[in-house]
Formats: sequence, C-alpha cells, structure tokens
Amino acid sequence: HHLVYQDEIPSTQKKAQHLAEDGAEEGTVVLADEQTSGRGRLGRSWHSPKGTGIWMSLIIRPDIPIHKAPQFTLLTAVAVVKAVKHVTGLDCEIKWPNDILYKGKKFVGILTELQAEAADVKAIIVGIGINVNAAIDDFPEELKDIATSLRAEAGTAFDRAELIQEILKAFEDLYKSYMDEGFGLIKLLWESYAISLGRQIYARTANGTVVQGLAQGINDEGVLLLKDKDGKIHKIYSADIEI
Ligand code: BTN
Repeated sequence: HHLVYQDEIPSTQKKAQHLAEDGAEEGTVVLADEQTSGRGRLGRSWHSPKGTGIWMSLIIRPDIPIHKAPQFTLLTAVAVVKAVKHVTGLDCEIKWPNDILYKGKKFVGILTELQAEAADVKAIIVGIGINVNAAIDDFPEELKDIATSLRAEAGTAFDRAELIQEILKAFEDLYKSYMDEGFGLIKLLWESYAISLGRQIYARTANGTVVQGLAQGINDEGVLLLKDKDGKIHKIYSADIEI
C-alpha cells in the first residue's frame, strides 16, 4: 500500500480523486486527522472533526465494466461491518446502499466515486467516514438525534489505527473473493447485515421521485429491488431510503 497522511486536509476524497487522475496505484490510501470540507453523498457535507474519526479514501482499479461499480459500495460496507465487529464487538447494520447504523443511528458513511473510460472502470475512489471517539455532545445540533459514534455506543474509546488496519484487511479479503469467485459471497453477507430487506420502504431518488415498495433484496449488480403495490419491480440505483 501507498499511504498518504495529512493532519488536516479539505477532503481525502478530493485528494484521492486527483491522485487517481495522476495515475496513483491501486491500494493507495489517503488518510487525514481532520477534514475541513468533508463531502457526503448527494452533495452534502460530512462533519469531520479533528482527532476523533477515521476519514479515509482508498483508490482501487478493478478490471470491471462500470455497471458493476455499485458492487464495491456494498463490498466496502461489508468490510466495515466485519472490522467494527472484530475491534469493538458491536453488531451493526447496513442501510442500503452505504450507511452503517448502530441501533438505528448512523456512524459510518461510505461514498464511492468512479473514474471511467468508455464503459470500463479506470479507478474507484472509496471514501469511508467513521465516527469513532467523538462525544455526541460535540456533534452539531442537527446530528445529535440521528448520528452516533463507536465510543458513545460502547462506552469506551477505540484505537483508530487498529480499526483502519482491520478495515483494509477485510476489504482486501473480500476484494480477492470478488475477483476469484464473483459477487456471490459479498451479496450474501451484505443481505445478512441489511436492515431494510423484507420491509416497506420509501426510496427518494435524486430527481425527487419517490417509489414506495417492499425491499426485496439486491441484484447481482448491487442494485436495490423494490416491489410496488402493483407487483412491479423497480431497480433503484441511487436514492435515500426511508423506512
Ligand atoms: C455519506 O454521505 O454518508 C458519505 C460520507 C463519506 C465521508 C467520507 S470521509 C472520507 C472521505 N472524504 C470525504 O470528503 N468524504 C469521504
């Protein structure tokens, strides 16, 4: 691995995007102690205070067509759930596609971005943000009821370096399994950790359309399948989910 570490950075994701454009090798990790303009999904910002979280972006270069890229969001979520369990003992849950929650509160966000050439992936930038040792009291007001941290839940602080190591290890194992045997194992693991499957949910897509239906599962591309009241199956590529 090639590791780029900075005490303070606007966004590890932006930095990793630039490095990937400049040809950075697969496995490059960009890590920071603080982000001053951390980015979330759908143009949102990501609260990334100094010293309490894991803010990192990983560059990978799988030889796959772009329609398979969403699989890596799910692979990443599975890797983080496994690593969190290993280091903290906490069983957490995945909310499609990329939020990781503990008892209904989010403490991990995953942002996967793509660099493509025609129909092929050139690089995937996997951004992972984890609230590790933050105190809820220090969260901005609008996050206090919906977000949490590992320390707040477990009542003890955790070694961020150990968690990073476990995440990278789990990621590498799953990546190998993906390359050797395909998406099957990851899909199974993901579905075993997912909260919304088998439930009625609302999916609000970026253009504001809302689809209501039964979350049936994911397909082999990592796309969410929703069955509406008329029995029609909708493929959800990107949306916010409400339960
Ligand atoms: C989400 O909206 O849930 C995704 C949040 C992703 C945050 C991480 S922190 C490391 C990386 N750098 C960023 O600016 N964003 C991602």
